[in-house]
Amino acid sequence: MSVSSQTPTQEKAVQLGIDLEQLPSHVAVIMDGNGRWAKKRGLQRLLGHREGYRTLRGVLLNASELGIKFLTVYAFSAENWRRPEDEVAGLMKLIETAAKDELRAMHRNNVRVQVAGRLDEVPPSLRKALLDGVETTKGNTGITFTLAVNYGGRAEIVDAVKSIIEAGTKASEITEETIASRLYNPLTPEPDLMVRTAGEMRWSNFLIWQSANTELYVTEKPWPEFDETELLNAVLTYQQRTRKFGAVVE
Ligand code: IPE
Ligand code: IPE
Ligand code: MG
Repeated sequence: MSVSSQTPTQEKAVQLGIDLEQLPSHVAVIMDGNGRWAKKRGLQRLLGHREGYRTLRGVLLNASELGIKFLTVYAFSAENWRRPEDEVAGLMKLIETAAKDELRAMHRNNVRVQVAGRLDEVPPSLRKALLDGVETTKGNTGITFTLAVNYGGRAEIVDAVKSIIEAGTKASEITEETIASRLYNPLTPEPDLMVRTAGEMRWSNFLIWQSANTELYVTEKPWPEFDETELLNAVLTYQQRTRKFGAVVE
């Protein structure tokens, strides 16, 4: 790749020592710490989520400019219904507003939108906004951006098993590929890198089938403070790891 064809994000990446030929193809993010970010500033949790939305806009752009092919983010988990009613309602509204407001810009930037999660359980207006985004951008060829809403990794596996049984597949014919082919977005490769913000060392039920061999990177920064430099640090750390997939690697 010639220097002149590089985006500013790629130039910065190269300066940091990132090899643009060895980028993770799929980066997944557990966007955590919005509440703590807000609390520290004496603000309502919802303001933290709003700031998190602003962060996500930037990170989607940075990831796309870096050359990441798939970005998947955890926006609302199947367990997040346990939160106070006003926070849940605020999050639903925020995701809906974001989906509507960002659609035009995402489409212009050639972003392909996907969703993951049980959309039949979210408010109909949110479901519509998300599905409109998917439909409008389905022919785009840039970064694939997957928004996980009302997503649970176990629920996804349960849904896959149901659809396998409904298809009449014989037990003796079921392989790992059978299950993988029935996940929400079967054509999306497994994540190479999973980033979690705000220091928590757990998966919280995110992409548990797909992350069997994923490299995990945890930063102490809460999600509202995550930026281009943080993303590049995560990618650099990823490139310094040795992926073995169970084999012996000399
Ligand atoms: C992550 O931030 C966003 C969602 C789960 C929707 P949190 O709201 O979990 O923030 P903390 O963990 O309370 O700081
Ligand atoms: C995971 O964060 C879910 C999202 C980021 C949407 P949580 O804050 O809900 O996870 P726990 O409760 O710390 O496991
Ligand atoms: Mg949290």
